[in-house]
Amino acid sequence: MIDRDLYPVSPEWAARAHMNREAYEAARVAARETPEAFWAEQARRLDWITPPTVIKDVSFDKDDFRIRWFADGALNVCFNCVDRHLPERADQMAILWEGDEPDQSGGLTYVELHREVCRMANVLKSLGVKKGDRVTIYLPMIPAAAVAMLACARIGAIHSVVFGGFSPDSIAGRIEDCGSRLVITADEGLRGGKRVPLKANVDAALEKVAVETVLVISHTNADVPMTGGRDFRYGELKQGVSDDCPCEPMNAEDPLFILYTSGSTGKPKGVLHTTGGYLFWVSWTHELVFDYRPGEVFWCTADVGWVTGHSYVVYGPLANAGTTLMFEGVPNHPTVSRVWEVVDKHRVEIFYTAPTALRALMREGDDPVKATSRASLRLLGTVGEPINPEAWRWYHEVVGESRLPIVDTWWQTETGGVLVSPLPGATDLKPGSATRPLPGVELQLVDAEGGVLEGATSGNLVITDSWPGQMRTVWGDPQRFFDTYFSAYPGKYFTGDGCRRDEDGDYWITGRVDDVINVSGHRMGTAEVESALVLHPDVAEAAVVGFPHDIKGQGIYAYVTLNAGVEATEALRADLVRHVRAEIGPIAAPDVIHWAPGLPKTRSGKIMRRILRKIAEGETGALGDTSTLADPAVVEALVAGRG
Ligand code: WT7
Repeated sequence: MIDRDLYPVSPEWAARAHMNREAYEAARVAARETPEAFWAEQARRLDWITPPTVIKDVSFDKDDFRIRWFADGALNVCFNCVDRHLPERADQMAILWEGDEPDQSGGLTYVELHREVCRMANVLKSLGVKKGDRVTIYLPMIPAAAVAMLACARIGAIHSVVFGGFSPDSIAGRIEDCGSRLVITADEGLRGGKRVPLKANVDAALEKVAVETVLVISHTNADVPMTGGRDFRYGELKQGVSDDCPCEPMNAEDPLFILYTSGSTGKPKGVLHTTGGYLFWVSWTHELVFDYRPGEVFWCTADVGWVTGHSYVVYGPLANAGTTLMFEGVPNHPTVSRVWEVVDKHRVEIFYTAPTALRALMREGDDPVKATSRASLRLLGTVGEPINPEAWRWYHEVVGESRLPIVDTWWQTETGGVLVSPLPGATDLKPGSATRPLPGVELQLVDAEGGVLEGATSGNLVITDSWPGQMRTVWGDPQRFFDTYFSAYPGKYFTGDGCRRDEDGDYWITGRVDDVINVSGHRMGTAEVESALVLHPDVAEAAVVGFPHDIKGQGIYAYVTLNAGVEATEALRADLVRHVRAEIGPIAAPDVIHWAPGLPKTRSGKIMRRILRKIAEGETGALGDTSTLADPAVVEALVAGRG
């Protein structure tokens, strides 16, 4: 199929962009043929204490496995994101903050950010935090979240940000896995007029795992209980420290942060990113993909608890001397015009969000958008899941008034930053396609056996060579890192995504091919939801699959077998949903619970998820090969019970 729904690069964009078509093609060749020289040159965009001479030191082979970039270089991430901008931009806004209610806003200039970060860094030091220590951050979308991350980077501590929507159990698991000494939290967050009990959640988590110190930032000034000797009010400690703190020189391969993400099996993995390669990648991609210039107002709507927030709310824009907008609220509060009102209020120039948010806003019709000006906008972006062409066209025509390019950016927590995306000055757009790999990103489509597929085709997406922003390991479990990403197709990184390549060579990501579901652009492992369900005393067994959902992209569909004698009531159904929310967090709440007298299994006892997916999708007439089922009657019962 040739997709000719093309939106060509405009002459103005080709003329003004950092990278036009010729430059893109030349960079692709240079990155492939002379990678050392190419990346050494590009990496000069960072401020190095010791510039690297060893550029790329990588092998994906089992016996010789290593991923190292700029390995003899030294730098500090916080210096690059803050200090180096002070001579020219001390009074430029670094962070603009928009609160939950429209009358709440504020922010920090670069000189203020510097002072705040130094103070926080000195408080952390006074509490005994040292280079290499882990610090858990559980905060709302307020400037203090960026300050906390940068303060860790300044002194060489490794941060682990936990999304404010995760439950106490999820916090506890993450604290335990990385051995955090300290947690930074706030009294409460605010979202859509509701209070989020952050400190209370931390207290509940700390009933299961211990930390030495909890640092509490006052945000709503709620009265929260403080445990003596463990909990400290940041506002008080901050008074007693200097606003000057030197930056710790870090090796390029020293860890910068751990961020937990769901996989197809087991507990969430601690994805480790390091100092030099990660910062380079987010800075370079932020400039190229968004065609960014210092001082432009950039709004990425992601929470800092996800990688998108790390890379394109905090590190990318600040490394590029940007003005980054942090929004604590939600798109439909107090009205469904809020997003566009915020764009007008802060004169946002580049807006980056998830397709799920666009679909939800699209439902409200065009009027809430048209009631606003949006004249400041010059580029739009999407991330997190495939965008359906209908939502793409709405974004283009209604939000962008057919004048703004849209960059559909494909990447993952593991990749650190964008890998596949149009460049606004170089790439013709196609609704629904992430189009082309960035220079240095070598994609392949392979079949299930690893055979390389050429031309226009579909297959599993793999990457045959490293890029600087690649994750380095799974915290505490290098074997799991290798097994998860490098064992399916030896010598190649397996993304977990399926993908189509069209006649023009453009890529169309079709979604996960493993047991991961993408709910509203957030990754959820089916195994995690199943583990939560079977913890419920009435549940004997559970199997979870994704199904197409109009707004969320994918919803969570849970097949549940109850213990003998337990009655399947509506009250129990509600209780199971509540239980999963409490175990993991609201994002994991099942959309459908299907009472299953039994689950379809092979004779060796393996659950046949393929069949469960078909039934969840409503494709009960096309279940495929069922000949290996131990008991075909189980499937008939499930089909009959679909309601
Ligand atoms: C998975 C990664 C990238 C940061 C946010 C999510 C899906 C991401 C796109 C896109 C189609 C996309 C993939 C990927 N995904 N961006 N533009 N088009 N699919 O990060 O939680 O690590 O999830 O999100 O399936 O593997 P994540």
